[in-house]
Amino acid sequence: MKDSHCKKAYITTPIYYVNDVPHIGHAYTTIIADTLARYSRLVGIDTFFLTGTDEHGQKIEEAAKKRGKNPKEYADEISKVFKDLWDYMEISYDKFIRTTDKEHIIGVQKAFEKMYQKGDIYKDYYEGFYCVSCESFFTQTQLIEGEFCPDCGKSTQIVKEESYFFKLSKYEKALLEWYEKEEKCIIPKSKKNEVISFVKQGLQDLSITRTSFEWGIKLPSSINDPKHVIYVWLDALMNYLTALGYGTDEKRMDYWPAKVHLVGKDILRFHAVYWPAFLMSLDLPLPKHIAAHGWWTRNGEKMSKSKGNVIDPKEVCEAYGIEPFRYFMLREVSFGLDGDFSQRALIDRINSDLNNDLGNLLNRVIGMSQKYFDFNIDSKNVLKYHQKELNEAREHIKKLPDFIYNVQTNRYLEELWKILTLANQSITIYEPWKLMKEGKEEEAMALVALIANLLAKTAIMLYPAMPKSAEKIAKALKFKINHENYKKLIVEDKLLDNFKIEKIPPLFTKIEKELLAERKVKKESKKAEKKEGIITIDDFFKVSLKVGTIVEAEEVKKSDRLLKLKVDLGEESLRQIIAGIKEYYSPKELINTQVCVVANLKPAKIMGLVSQGMILAAKDEDSLTLIRPEKPKRAGTPIK
Ligand code: ME8
Ligand code: MG
Repeated sequence: MKDSHCKKAYITTPIYYVNDVPHIGHAYTTIIADTLARYSRLVGIDTFFLTGTDEHGQKIEEAAKKRGKNPKEYADEISKVFKDLWDYMEISYDKFIRTTDKEHIIGVQKAFEKMYQKGDIYKDYYEGFYCVSCESFFTQTQLIEGEFCPDCGKSTQIVKEESYFFKLSKYEKALLEWYEKEEKCIIPKSKKNEVISFVKQGLQDLSITRTSFEWGIKLPSSINDPKHVIYVWLDALMNYLTALGYGTDEKRMDYWPAKVHLVGKDILRFHAVYWPAFLMSLDLPLPKHIAAHGWWTRNGEKMSKSKGNVIDPKEVCEAYGIEPFRYFMLREVSFGLDGDFSQRALIDRINSDLNNDLGNLLNRVIGMSQKYFDFNIDSKNVLKYHQKELNEAREHIKKLPDFIYNVQTNRYLEELWKILTLANQSITIYEPWKLMKEGKEEEAMALVALIANLLAKTAIMLYPAMPKSAEKIAKALKFKINHENYKKLIVEDKLLDNFKIEKIPPLFTKIEKELLAERKVKKESKKAEKKEGIITIDDFFKVSLKVGTIVEAEEVKKSDRLLKLKVDLGEESLRQIIAGIKEYYSPKELINTQVCVVANLKPAKIMGLVSQGMILAAKDEDSLTLIRPEKPKRAGTPIK
């Protein structure tokens, strides 16, 4: 995988769905990709870094409808939120692609046409199950309990429609050969093994058009079948080619094949199975690496837009700073594994790694050179006194490229921090203040210059991960972070020329308490006071609680929250109750089950419908669950 000598590198993130706004999971992928892109440019590779948004498909059509917008209008709005976030975070992308871009649409149609002409696409009927959330097809045997998506756990839809199919089965053997031949085509290895065993179970041809909705790319006019739109995953994956001008102006196609497609493990199958098969059909070379990382979780659950347990990256950046956030994301978890986001862990990293190990080291070297040498730093005797330390630093630096090429950003930073430890220890061991007292000025200068040089080398290699902090260090040490200095200080392992160190403000500040929780906790505790205010037993008995049996249940049209229930409370007629539980329960699963009902609530109108009571449920950030009698009871039984 040591193809650092290659001239061009094409690095991509997934294009994110515009069904909702970004969270730290998206930021994670994008930060890693940005780090790889910056590294690649630093070492002198002509790099193209792509990100963007995925805007077609049923999921987006539905998300727009919910908000009463047309899909394009809605996509424009959310796509901008993603782009603005990356700009705010100074992500160094070269292109931000949108699948509603004209060039993309033309390119996708050209690809469809080519695959069709090749005989890889045929028309038939699709009958099976579809998960809108994952935009993914399943057979009944793949489903959980015959209904739920094996990937995200949501309810699937039965789909029966005319469809064009891609001959995925034809590429099964070629795919297995590719996995076999290219050791690092999928990283990490554990993920690669999962893909191989998936393919070995046999591949079915893939439905690649839909007729039941409209928001997608039409088939090429040469096929002339206006009912169909192209399946969103074929559309989306093609972005990696159309961004280079595939099918239109192909001037950037020499960046292909991609050096690395960075993805989360949730979408590895699409990238490691479908995508290479499409590429083979198009007679194009396959990507060098597909790298799949793990998930950021909250209390052990995947952070996701649809679960609503997300953290806004902008909020984190505003509270803690963009660079500390980047460092934390890159350093905290091993590539491929899941990580639970906690502010405590972020604060620990800031205080110990950034503030102590790095920030204070720079302060110390500035302080020492000021006090002893009027800010001067002269490297001429570093080799004489500190060959050993320089050798040790070189050993650490030598290991860095491999970590980058394996996307092990955590190990990359760990290794880099060993140089900082070495520098900090050198100060303790050689005690420059003593050397000065003993009149050993030459030795003291050598030590101070050693520290400055170790910091300079660290700053260059830190640049991909923390560009702004690296540049600040470089400013203090009077050099520029660029490819020339990378060659000088890293490749040729030279030392800094003589210079006067510049006093700059501290790089980081120590964080005492959680900055984000503060705001939230305040709000919550006020709510809690109200909620948990003391009442008397008489107050409690004013509420009439009864067991009810749900007899009918249906969705309230135009509402994503509400269900209309008919509940038997042992009275003459059924009660109509409008309940905000649609996200958590389907009408079907509620019928003939029992619930607890507040029976003497003043009737209220909700979305024009009368509600004659309320059902009890427990709700936390993750989900809602109904409170039910442990054993069946006669409808109308009072609850005491
Ligand atoms: O899948 N932890 O878009 P998407 C870590 N449009 N990373 C996470 C994450 C989490 N909890 N949640 C999301 C799509 N991500 C398609 C992609 S590509 C041709 C089409 C990141 O908006 C991670 O990179 O659902 C994941 O793969 C991606 O966002 C999914 O974004
Ligand atoms: Mg997703």
